[in-house]
Amino acid sequence: MSRPPLTRSVWDVDADDFPADGAVHDRARFLLRYAILAPSSHNSQPWTFDVHDDEIRFAADESRWLDVADPDQRELYVSVGCAVENCCVAAEHFGFDPQVEYHDPASTGRVATVRLADGAPADPHPPELFDALTTRATSHAVFEDRPLAPATRQRLAALVRDDDVTLQVVDDPDTKAAIAQLQAEADRLQMDDPEYRRELGHWVGLGALGSSWLAARVGQAVVTHLDIGDREAAKNSKLITSAPVVAVLTTPADDPPARVRTGQTFERVALLASLQDVAVHPMSQTLERPETRSRLADLLGTTDSPQHLFRLGYADESPEHTPRWPLSEFLTGG
Ligand SMILES: Cc1cc2nc3c(=O)[nH]c(=O)nc-3n(C[C@H](O)[C@H](O)[C@H](O)COP(=O)(O)O)c2cc1C
Repeated sequence: MSRPPLTRSVWDVDADDFPADGAVHDRARFLLRYAILAPSSHNSQPWTFDVHDDEIRFAADESRWLDVADPDQRELYVSVGCAVENCCVAAEHFGFDPQVEYHDPASTGRVATVRLADGAPADPHPPELFDALTTRATSHAVFEDRPLAPATRQRLAALVRDDDVTLQVVDDPDTKAAIAQLQAEADRLQMDDPEYRRELGHWVGLGALGSSWLAARVGQAVVTHLDIGDREAAKNSKLITSAPVVAVLTTPADDPPARVRTGQTFERVALLASLQDVAVHPMSQTLERPETRSRLADLLGTTDSPQHLFRLGYADESPEHTPRWPLSEFLTGG
């Protein structure tokens, strides 16, 4: 199946183009222009949207699932959750009260439904998050050696509004060093697996990861296969130990709704971080291997399941936007 080209023009979405007097169906579709700007693992954009009047049905697109890196589909659903959150932030901006319902994808084929009710939300997002929808980007930089401002930490923590999702913030050097070791171990295991490298090379080859140094490095290494595991392990463990904060989102349940909620929480944090000039970098390898994932939970002293791990800090350069496939690629049904 051929896909339309990736493009960066999707980032130029203009709020003035919102069809305020249009049918609710058209207004709902406009919100999805923001949904596709969400982060996703390998920028695979593994979502589909089905708009029915005031209802937007979100599903995971298994043709875009990273079945080698993500065999238990954790990243798949976290990524869809990020798109759900962007949609909700945009919906509130344009005057809706978005109501999210979660589903069991195995029985419904759907992950979540966002219903666009009229009126003011009982617990609204900070309105400024809307501005970050078109500016947020993942950073791969080495972060500066300075702590996260306490007020920023508090504001980020306050965004965790879901009782089922916990944000663990790690800033002590010993725990960061232990997490860096898990990362190094997972990097070696993943990069030793030819199927993992093939899958990563596929997405790099499509251009999904843009032309960042990460994509260039990994793309080159996937071709040469030279000591890639050791190099990634050394680089990534340094990225972790040098970050002022490593954050982990955990949930008591380990199922698709918990992962969608994790994605929503992460995206909220990433949007606010972007407005505070705080760089954000998810690092998934530790969670991709069951053995390192369960050791991470032990290290954090939790019986919850770790769902998403990311670095937070300050970087002296702003990352570039990665491209996206256009919205038409993801619309299904009526
Ligand atoms: C569930 C999930 C897992 C991710 N894992 C990683 C990762 O392991 N390493 C990394 O560099 N970026 C990771 N990312 C970031 C994506 O690569 C990034 O979101 C994508 O390339 C789009 O770029 P953007 O966030 O700058 O728009 C992850 C993102 C999500 C949502």
